[in-house]
Amino acid sequence: MKRFFVAALLCCLLSAASVWAKEGTLLVAFGTSVSSARPAIDAIVAEYREKTTGPVLLAFTSDIIRKKLAAAGEPVFSVNAALNELAAQGVDEVRVQSLHVAPAEEYSQLERMIVRHVTRKPGVFTSVKVGYPLLVSERDLDTVVSVVLAALPQRRKGDAVVLMGHGNDRGPGDLTLAAAATAFHKADPLVWLATVEGANSFDKVLPQLKAAGVKRVWLQPFMLVAGDHARNDLAGPEEDSWASRIRAAGMTPVPHLVGLGQITGIRELFLDHSRHAVIELARPGKAD
Ligand code: CO
Repeated sequence: MKRFFVAALLCCLLSAASVWAKEGTLLVAFGTSVSSARPAIDAIVAEYREKTTGPVLLAFTSDIIRKKLAAAGEPVFSVNAALNELAAQGVDEVRVQSLHVAPAEEYSQLERMIVRHVTRKPGVFTSVKVGYPLLVSERDLDTVVSVVLAALPQRRKGDAVVLMGHGNDRGPGDLTLAAAATAFHKADPLVWLATVEGANSFDKVLPQLKAAGVKRVWLQPFMLVAGDHARNDLAGPEEDSWASRIRAAGMTPVPHLVGLGQITGIRELFLDHSRHAVIELARPGKAD
C-alpha cells in the first residue's frame, strides 16, 4: 500500500514537472547598429512577446555590431549570453528562431554556436529547438514573393522593382537567393533580385532594366533590416550605389527603405517556422 502511494506521488510530481516546464524564445539576427533600421527587428520581438509564452530575448551574432551598441549604451546579447540569461530565468525548453533570410553561412554558424553551448553546459535545458530561416521551402518562397510585392502599394503600372539581397560566396545561400530571384521574376517580369555579395550580381540586372524600357525603379531591401547596405549600397549617393547606377542609365530610382521584418506577412512566416519548421537541435539530457 505504502509503495502504491509513493508511486502515485511520484507520478503526480512527474506530470506536474512537465506542466511546469518553462518555455522561452531566443530570436537571433546578424544585427544592425543603424537605429532607423531597428523597427524591423523590434517589431518581430514585440510580436513574439505577444504571441508566445515565456520570456523572449534577442541576440545579435555580429561581434562588431554588439561592441558598437554596447559602447552606445544599448547592449544586445550574444547567443551564449542570451542562453545563459534564459537559464537564469528558469527556462528549460528553449526555442531559438533564426531571423536569417536563407539557410546560409550565418545560419549554419548559429547552429554550431548552439551545439557548442549545450555541449559545454549539459543538463541546463531539457530541449533546444531551432526554427528555420525565412526561405526553406517552395511554400515559403510563394508567401514571401506575394507579401513583399504587396508591400509596395504605391508602385504604378510599368514601374520596375529591384530587390537587394545580401548573398555571399560561402555556403549554399546563393542558391536560395537565385531561386528567389527566379520566383519574383516569374511572378512579375518587372521584378528583379540581385545581391550585394555573391553570385547574383546587380551587373546582370542593370542591362535587363534598360532593355525592358522602364522609367521608374523601386528599390527594396531583401534583408531583415533596411540597414547599412540599404542606405549605402542600395540607395546611397555614391556613384556605385544601385540608385546612382540606375539614375546614370536614365531611369528614376524610388528607394523604399523598409526591412523585411517590417512586413506583417514576413513576421507571420517566422512565427510559423517557430511552430512548425523546427529541428530539435540538442536534447542535452538524453543521448539519441
Ligand atoms: Co554585409
